[in-house]
Amino acid sequence: MNFIQKRLLIFVALLTIFSFIGPIETSFSVNEITIRNQKTLTPNIDGIIGTDEYISEISLSGGDYKLYWQIEGDTIFLGMVGKTTGWVAIGFDPTLAMQDADMIFGWVLSNSSVIIIDAFSTGPNGPHPADTDLGGNSDISAYNGTEESGNTIIEFSRLLTTGDQYDNDIPSSGTYNIIWALGNTDDFGLKHIQRGSATINLGETEESTKTESSSSQSESTTGFALTTILFFISMLLILRKTNDY
Ligand code: HEM
Repeated sequence: MNFIQKRLLIFVALLTIFSFIGPIETSFSVNEITIRNQKTLTPNIDGIIGTDEYISEISLSGGDYKLYWQIEGDTIFLGMVGKTTGWVAIGFDPTLAMQDADMIFGWVLSNSSVIIIDAFSTGPNGPHPADTDLGGNSDISAYNGTEESGNTIIEFSRLLTTGDQYDNDIPSSGTYNIIWALGNTDDFGLKHIQRGSATINLGETEESTKTESSSSQSESTTGFALTTILFFISMLLILRKTNDY
């Protein structure tokens, strides 16, 4: 292989690698899970999440998305806090990517009213029509939300088993898979800017705070710009090295 062919090969190889990793920013973040067994009060669905309000909480993606939960009898109380002024969402028990996830979207309008949508994802990348559009019901028992310092807080409660074919049953104990996402608009038809997945423990009662790591992704142009710069720096270094011979 001659000198020019070698350079061309390196160029193509680098271009291929960078074009794969460019558009997506993957962050490996430390998640903090807190379990409180001393709690006796039922969470208040008022759109404000107080310290120690819920038995369990998990902080995902470096705190960009926080989930709070507590089961009382046949009902689960959930709180989501997302770093956005658009929508926040949770998806219960997906089968493949977003497919079959029982999704709850919530957002706060500029007049402070709160919208909540009980939806269901019919495919791995959506769509996720509202249950009512699929012939099911909206099964959110109570909900509320607020926007504060660029965060959206949504609280709601739901029966663990609703009987609706577009809701997934939530067991009262054991591990459970969820997906989450944040949108940057109040339009739940528009794609997320951040999303991820986690496994939560529904019935954990032993008081603890532990950390674990997981990955989440944000679709942004920063990752693309960064990898483009890295690509050109690598090319300059290679060209300088080959010119030295
Ligand atoms: C609002 C409309 C939505 C649209 C148009 C949409 C679209 C998509 C598309 C095209 C993908 C595949 C490409 C990619 O990885 O980015 C994807 C992946 C994903 N979405 Fe959504 N999505 C929406 C809402 C949601 C919601 C509400 C959640 C969570 C509750 C969610 C969670 C996810 C997750 C976890 C993935 C990655 C799945 C995997 O690769 O395992 N999405 N979405």
